Amino acid sequence: MAMQKKLPRDFIWGFATASFQIEGSVDVDGRGKSIWDDFSRTPGKTLDGKNGDVATDSYRLWREDIALLKQYGIRAYRFSIAWSRIIPLGGRNDPVNPKGIKFYSDVIDELLKAGITPFVTLYHWDLPQELHDRYGGWLNKDEIVQDYVNYARICFQSFGDRVKHWLTLNEPWCVAVLGYGRGVFAPGRCSDRNRSQEGDSSTEPWIVAHNLILSHASAVKVYRDEFKPTQQGQIGITLNGDWEVPYDNSPENIAAAQQALDVAIGWYADPVYLGFYPDHMKKMLGNRLPDFTPEEWALVKGSSDFYGMNTYTTNLAKAGGSDEFQGNVDYTFTRADGTELGTQAHCSWLQTYPEGFRALLNYVWKRYKLPIYVTENGFAVKGEDSLPIEEAIKDHDRVEYFRGATESLYKAMYEDGVDIRSYFPWSFLDNFEWADGYGTRFGVTYVDYKTQKRYPKESAKFLIKWFREHQEQE
Ligand code: NOJ
Repeated sequence: MAMQKKLPRDFIWGFATASFQIEGSVDVDGRGKSIWDDFSRTPGKTLDGKNGDVATDSYRLWREDIALLKQYGIRAYRFSIAWSRIIPLGGRNDPVNPKGIKFYSDVIDELLKAGITPFVTLYHWDLPQELHDRYGGWLNKDEIVQDYVNYARICFQSFGDRVKHWLTLNEPWCVAVLGYGRGVFAPGRCSDRNRSQEGDSSTEPWIVAHNLILSHASAVKVYRDEFKPTQQGQIGITLNGDWEVPYDNSPENIAAAQQALDVAIGWYADPVYLGFYPDHMKKMLGNRLPDFTPEEWALVKGSSDFYGMNTYTTNLAKAGGSDEFQGNVDYTFTRADGTELGTQAHCSWLQTYPEGFRALLNYVWKRYKLPIYVTENGFAVKGEDSLPIEEAIKDHDRVEYFRGATESLYKAMYEDGVDIRSYFPWSFLDNFEWADGYGTRFGVTYVDYKTQKRYPKESAKFLIKWFREHQEQE
């Protein structure tokens, strides 16, 4: 690619992780249980039957991990705080755990010492178990909004002097749909009788989403009113959402692609950035879609300083499905002519298709008109887990994925004029991939779980080199 412009020095790039996926040490230093602790220990909930008790052992190995990040020369690190380390029981009247505060405080100091900007997620799916048991967690608006805000305030108070980039919630679609609709993530609620689980998947996910949005917006208000004037940071939400291409050029499939986007992205982004729900959702759900009061709408609209984007793949959207969480649209990767969209990943939902990333960046920029922070993007190589380490680290398919993604990022910025401020490949390390366990590896660093040794993969080297060559250096 002929390269005229370089990414500005202040473009933020780095790697991302999340607390429950890497920390382990679940009983250490006063941490309370999260909803993922017992859920991941329950037989049948994870593919390999493994849990998060040890993960990549990063609660113990965090200094070594930061040393490796420094060696990589990255400029930022996205990680999440475990709510139940800060407030073991989670609630606004429950005690704060000084050891939890100290842990993240030390991590932040060490990052800053290494010249790495901390990018902090407040909630990456590990709700304190006690809040779920006490009052139903995210299902209970009156309680959860106040408890989440209290937790967020403690984080702003404790770390906001040094943290200038906050993400309130990670991928609320997944929290609502996978946790309360399909029941495959903690807390595993779902009305599917074959799985005999509790819950009503026709109503609960929409209620949970409503409460997530209100919790996010309320925490942002607290930050803006009480902390932003002195701390001068940015705060926003980060949403998952993949690009949708119509299966063919028929009007119903063109409409299907938009319907899919309306639920995958618009469900959260339209309220937060535009102040309304997508028409398609209103029609599809009727009175099952909880509405906001005028005061709540005023709080929700405009409650994010930027658009936080997690994106991985592109779907071909076909009209006629019956899955409301996909907008009643079917997804496929095989085109009408039988050709595949791209290279298949280890997990069935993911393929390479860099054009989709560029198209999504353009769509979001035009629709929501705010700077975009790409907070996750990545690829799990097929069969990587069964290869010897020296083979696994030659992760050619992941390098190709990132080659395409970085090109799309560059073109979106300099050919299309999209305002993009960050890029965080997922993930710094192979880690606990939720219901998929440890067999699905997303890391640019290989983790040998027997020894907890880290091995840089080719993809880490590719990305480091790409940013060295394409970004203005000091
Ligand atoms: C989204 C999530 O935020 C992260 O926790 C997960 O590991 C990656 N995507 C890959 O599935």
